[in-house]
Amino acid sequence: MNAVELIRKKRDGQRLARPELEFLVRHYLEGKIPDYQMAAFCMAVYFRSMDVREITDFTQIMADSGDRLSHEGFDGFIADKHSTGGVGDKVSLVLVPLIAACGLYMPKLSGRGLGYTGGTIDKLEAIPGFRAPLTLEELKRCLCQAGAAISESTFQLAPADQKLYALRDVTASVESLPLIVSSILSKKLVIDSDGLVFDVKVGSGAMMRALSPAKALAGLLVSIAKRCGRRAVALITDMSQPLGYNVGNALELKEALATLQSHGPADLTEIVLRLGSELLVMAKQARTVTAGWELLRRKLLSGEGLHKFSEMVRAQGGDADVVRQPHRLSCAREKLELKAKKTGWVGALDARLIGEAAHSLGAGRAAMGERIDHAVGVELFKKIGDQVTKGEPLACLHVNEQTHWAEAMARVESAFQIGRIRPRRPALVRGRVA
Ligand code: URA
Repeated sequence: MNAVELIRKKRDGQRLARPELEFLVRHYLEGKIPDYQMAAFCMAVYFRSMDVREITDFTQIMADSGDRLSHEGFDGFIADKHSTGGVGDKVSLVLVPLIAACGLYMPKLSGRGLGYTGGTIDKLEAIPGFRAPLTLEELKRCLCQAGAAISESTFQLAPADQKLYALRDVTASVESLPLIVSSILSKKLVIDSDGLVFDVKVGSGAMMRALSPAKALAGLLVSIAKRCGRRAVALITDMSQPLGYNVGNALELKEALATLQSHGPADLTEIVLRLGSELLVMAKQARTVTAGWELLRRKLLSGEGLHKFSEMVRAQGGDADVVRQPHRLSCAREKLELKAKKTGWVGALDARLIGEAAHSLGAGRAAMGERIDHAVGVELFKKIGDQVTKGEPLACLHVNEQTHWAEAMARVESAFQIGRIRPRRPALVRGRVA
């Protein structure tokens, strides 16, 4: 077996057997197959695709390339969730403790933000002392203590995918459905979970801008996850505008805490309850999604979700007092308002432009390892379907550095489209795949 033969086979549209895929992944990770050959293979997959058997094998091989969190020592249901990413997406911050409050284990491996979307880890690091990079042993300990943990891995998380993803990024082969699905799932399989929910975002602030590719991604994620032995459901959710009203790390954390106190924004609360109720049904904690929804609602109202969040923060070394006193989180020095230039209805609110505005204020990073400013971001006062009067505030920038605010303000201004016709509010859940 050699790499050229396997690249040629895929180039000609043939299927590769599991040992052939193993050969490619193992030798690439060991440095015996060079980047240029693996790039050629990825491009062949881009044009010729893979069938579900090949994707399943490829996913499992990449998941097996590093460390795993086994089920051993956990006698309950282990739940996991994945979002394809969006602007203002703080769902995990609410969902993870809420699910743990229902008696399930929820270890969540998350990343840092790169580009215009934020990262869950960055949001949590707005809490003084919070330690996100955990070893596998520390992750297990936090999970035993609190039932919930949100961590960045310090261990070998599907290293074959990490190497391959970096290569795809610079060789124009990220946009291949089999490669995206195997990449996402290889990192999910590292945790020996019993059930998985996928939040596949669609719209201007998402990886998938249109419904049809989002449906294809959701369908393939669910079918490959099932072939890998997991129960799985995907919801396709709206990302035509940001989720909630706040974009930026400390701002989003405060909004998540408000949601855990049951006075968060309706859209964020609904997505959390919809995803959570799917997990409760999988775990047989609820017979129907409606019953699951009710259970989660009770956990919000009773404050048990918030209490779990404090336990999780404490287990990860953070200052749990900020959970009850969010005003202690860092605040930006200045707030600059954007006022409506005309009267009408908000017809569009481009999520990507809002994400880019927050990024340019310092909330995000352009390259891994860059420092970010936890306090800055964009607070929205109006969303699609809201009526506005000329002169009314539409949004507010939370600013520390004076340098970039004009650019950010221009982006926020262009994100809003105000028209004379009352638009329909976008449906929050656009589809479900089970
Ligand atoms: N996210 C991933 O983890 N992998 C991809 O290929 C695309 C998005």
